[in-house]
Amino acid sequence: MTTQTLDTPTQTQVDFLPLHGTDYVEFYVGNAKQAAHFYKTAFGFQSLAYAGPETGVRDRASYVLVQDKMRLVLTTPLTPNGDIAEHLKLHGDGVKVLALMVDDAYQAFEETTTRGGKPYMQPQTLTDDNGEVRLSGIHTYGDTVHIFVERKNYKGVFMPGYRAWKSNYNPEPVGLKYVDHCVGNVGWNEMNPWVKFYEDVMGFRNILSFDDNDISTEYSALMSKVMSNGNGFVKFPINEPAEGKKKSQVEEYLDFYLGQGVQHVAIATDDIVSTVNQMVARGVEFLSIPDNYYESILDRVGPIDEDLEPLHKLGILIDRDDEGYLLQIFTKPVEDRPTLFFEIIQRKGAQSFGKGNFKALFEALEREQDNRGNL
Ligand code: FE2
Repeated sequence: MTTQTLDTPTQTQVDFLPLHGTDYVEFYVGNAKQAAHFYKTAFGFQSLAYAGPETGVRDRASYVLVQDKMRLVLTTPLTPNGDIAEHLKLHGDGVKVLALMVDDAYQAFEETTTRGGKPYMQPQTLTDDNGEVRLSGIHTYGDTVHIFVERKNYKGVFMPGYRAWKSNYNPEPVGLKYVDHCVGNVGWNEMNPWVKFYEDVMGFRNILSFDDNDISTEYSALMSKVMSNGNGFVKFPINEPAEGKKKSQVEEYLDFYLGQGVQHVAIATDDIVSTVNQMVARGVEFLSIPDNYYESILDRVGPIDEDLEPLHKLGILIDRDDEGYLLQIFTKPVEDRPTLFFEIIQRKGAQSFGKGNFKALFEALEREQDNRGNL
């Protein structure tokens, strides 16, 4: 009977917003030409596409970079007025768009906006000789937005409006593969409302929670909930500051970003030692971890495949959960404001986020915060 069919779990648990992963991450930056050079040189991204005055775009220039499955878009305003310039003035360089791959951008807009999502971009179809890309978008925390990208009928390099970007300067990739997760920092008492947003509007689930007992050092405290979409391809942890003796690292971010926004983008690699060695050689600065972290680490996490010495030398952290272990490391902020940074992560079974490393990590972060006079 039809009514029984509708009541089966598979029917009631249909994912109303199926996502295939992160399509791209777009930064608004002060100088996209120079930022592109940095991400090619230091992070090993490859030139992919360009849009700007030469392609008929009058108000901005955008450089699209790629490494394996990860696309990065760097956009700068060409005029002092408008959304991009306003975003830049307020926040400095930072993430504007977390774009998500969908089968149907029109349906994604309909499903999310009828559930309370605030429209950012009405559904639209862009076409050129290579086919069509359909887009739509909604707002999330702060001035950050999600754009739904449907590109199954497109054969061009990125999307209509962009041309292929051929460069004479092509540093080798460093082994970065795809976006593992993107973390948002939100304000006091704002974590649960944004958890509810991802549950209600986007059909995500809360898969892990950390309270301030899990994540507090002598000074700096925060709370975090990890939101995941149905197939686990898209994970968005949400952080909120918590009361500590001194200023929370999340609060420092909020003060300098002047609002809620993306705190870090975690990128996966299959060989973290090789990737991080290359990034260090190319000038990327990582948080340094005290030597004593490595003295007892194998007692805590058990045997691992890698030699400990290279991990120690680079400051790579190790953690284990029921399913396996993970290796992770964090860059210092990549802007002068202490706002966005990157994580490099290699998962060896573990699907968690390195809770066992929070103490060592936050002590390292506090040292940096103290150096800036913000603790
Ligand atoms: Fe992370």
